[in-house]
Amino acid sequence: MTDLADTLADEMTARLKDDVLFIETDRSVEETEAFCTRHAPWRSVYRFSNGVTTESFPRSEHVPNPRCLAKLRRFHARIDLSRFAGKRVLDLGFNEGYQSIFMAKYLGCQVDGIEAYQVAVDRTSAIAEFCGAPCKFWVADANSFVAPETYDVILHCGLLYHLHDVWSAVKNSCRSLKPGGEVLLETTSYEGADKFDCKFMNWHAKGNHNYWALSPETIRYLFAEFGCTEGREVDSFEVGALAGTGMKRTMMWFRKPA
Ligand SMILES: C[S@@+](CC[C@H](N)C(=O)[O-])C[C@H]1O[C@@H](n2cnc3c(N)ncnc32)[C@H](O)[C@@H]1O
Repeated sequence: MTDLADTLADEMTARLKDDVLFIETDRSVEETEAFCTRHAPWRSVYRFSNGVTTESFPRSEHVPNPRCLAKLRRFHARIDLSRFAGKRVLDLGFNEGYQSIFMAKYLGCQVDGIEAYQVAVDRTSAIAEFCGAPCKFWVADANSFVAPETYDVILHCGLLYHLHDVWSAVKNSCRSLKPGGEVLLETTSYEGADKFDCKFMNWHAKGNHNYWALSPETIRYLFAEFGCTEGREVDSFEVGALAGTGMKRTMMWFRKPA
């Protein structure tokens, strides 16, 4: 007898294997090409089942992210994403919507997302609608956004180091989780001589975009402080842009006990 949970887990593995978002669609080539033209330049890669791909359209030079599903692939390798099927998800800093759309379209999740910019909300809402993924996106500041006990899963990826008030931001995320809710977090991290050493990284890209590369132990401390007492490091890896700085990208999992 086929185990349905295993089948969905295998399906997720197949859908994530290329790190790009594959979209099953009934739309025509002409309609899809017109859509891709309208929303270019693209940061991420959407490949449609009719053969159209955003790779054939102008690409954004601002933080391009062609391997846009790599984080979900890495999480899925260690934490089976299929168990989030049908859950209520919050995507913090959803960017071009690839993770939200994946969770909504292929796991049937009810996805909300917040972003810092209205232009991102308008554009990504249109992308999600075109892809047949009913997500709800709006503008909010992840430092202060809170929706008490609302979400089963929070995607907190590529965001923590952008936040000036990590204390409030982590507290708000923990409050926004239902009891038993889980956080998938990915961020720039730093490990120094002391386990709580952190690195101020505003020099890395000045302006209000880069603040703290926290140590994994500091991140664990903050989540535990606000009720996500279960947590562990999922993955950690070096990336070219951070070479020689002592910083890495680290992926962590947290849970607020039921
Ligand atoms: C590096 S991207 C990460 C995008 C995506 N979550 C991922 O993991 O690929 C960071 C995103 O967070 C958004 N962002 C930065 N500061 C924010 C804030 N205070 N509140 C909400 N979104 C923010 C940025 O606009 C950007 O789209």
